[in-house]
Amino acid sequence: MSGAYPLTRPRRLRQAPFIRAMVRETRLTAAHLVQPLFVAEGALAGPIDSMPGCERLTLEGLATTAQRLQALGIPAIALFPVIPQARKSDRGEEALNPDGLVPRAIAAVKQAAPTLGVIVDIALDPYTTHGHDGLLDAAGYIENDATVEVLRKQALLYARAGADMVAPSDMMDGRIGEIRRVLERDGLHRTMILSYAAKYASAFYGPFRDAVGSAPNLGKGGKQTYQMDPANTDEALREVALDLDEGADIVMVKPGMPYLDIIRRVKDRFAVPVAAYQVSGEYSMLHAAIARDMLDEKAVLLEALTCLHRAGSDIIFSYYAERAARWLQDTPA
Ligand code: PBG
Repeated sequence: MSGAYPLTRPRRLRQAPFIRAMVRETRLTAAHLVQPLFVAEGALAGPIDSMPGCERLTLEGLATTAQRLQALGIPAIALFPVIPQARKSDRGEEALNPDGLVPRAIAAVKQAAPTLGVIVDIALDPYTTHGHDGLLDAAGYIENDATVEVLRKQALLYARAGADMVAPSDMMDGRIGEIRRVLERDGLHRTMILSYAAKYASAFYGPFRDAVGSAPNLGKGGKQTYQMDPANTDEALREVALDLDEGADIVMVKPGMPYLDIIRRVKDRFAVPVAAYQVSGEYSMLHAAIARDMLDEKAVLLEALTCLHRAGSDIIFSYYAERAARWLQDTPA
């Protein structure tokens, strides 16, 4: 049959809410969302200029937020520490402090919200005076293997402190394998590794770098020698293949919305759990347009998050996670 019209009219299946609900292919629920949270102490706690509506939480604020998120059905949080300038160093030693902010934050969350999953970032940028994720050699190049040595210790420390999942976001070569081996040797067989496997050198991270205070340190220097070129896609598949081979349980594509094609390729090729990160720049962009009444907040957010899910991500990190979970409660998918 050629020219199927009028026998075939796709609009029949769009004519009313009941039938649209029955043929809907993707359903976003709170169970897909991860809330990234910034934690800080003393004067560093408070609002974030570049991300209005987000906050650097104190440990007490973190505990009450964790309880709220747990009650909303959000399965996990991702923790990002804000470290005072005085504790930062060239080699980022504070990352390995057993009494540091992250181990204490993990304990606070576990006590307040015992069933909430805790994901911790593994990278050195909150801790280094130069704002890079790794260690610099004499020429200012990020040294891969020396950095992996530190990341391995950082991951072990945070896993021992009770993190359910460690999430290396640094893009060094070989770090997943090294972290997996050290966890196994320590008997931490259940600690999950979420690898930021396809992480691009993106200008969309700008507001995050303000939030954790690494922006002034990093200056105009970019992360192009370790994060991926936004122009590439085959390279993402190669990175994901390596990380899965080295023992990653979940792989992430980051940023989110400009990289939906990468999410889809990764999901189709590997058929493993895929995470996507709606990053700070996406948040701030949406927030700015919403604040000026150019976009409708609830509609545009639920659409953006649904599209990330439709593209193939099972897990979506979003600064809007809590707000989205509330909207999803009001309007079941
Ligand atoms: C650092 C890290 C970054 C983000 C998560 N972990 C920033 C960067 O790579 O410079 C970005 C998150 C965001 O922009 O929301 N390892």
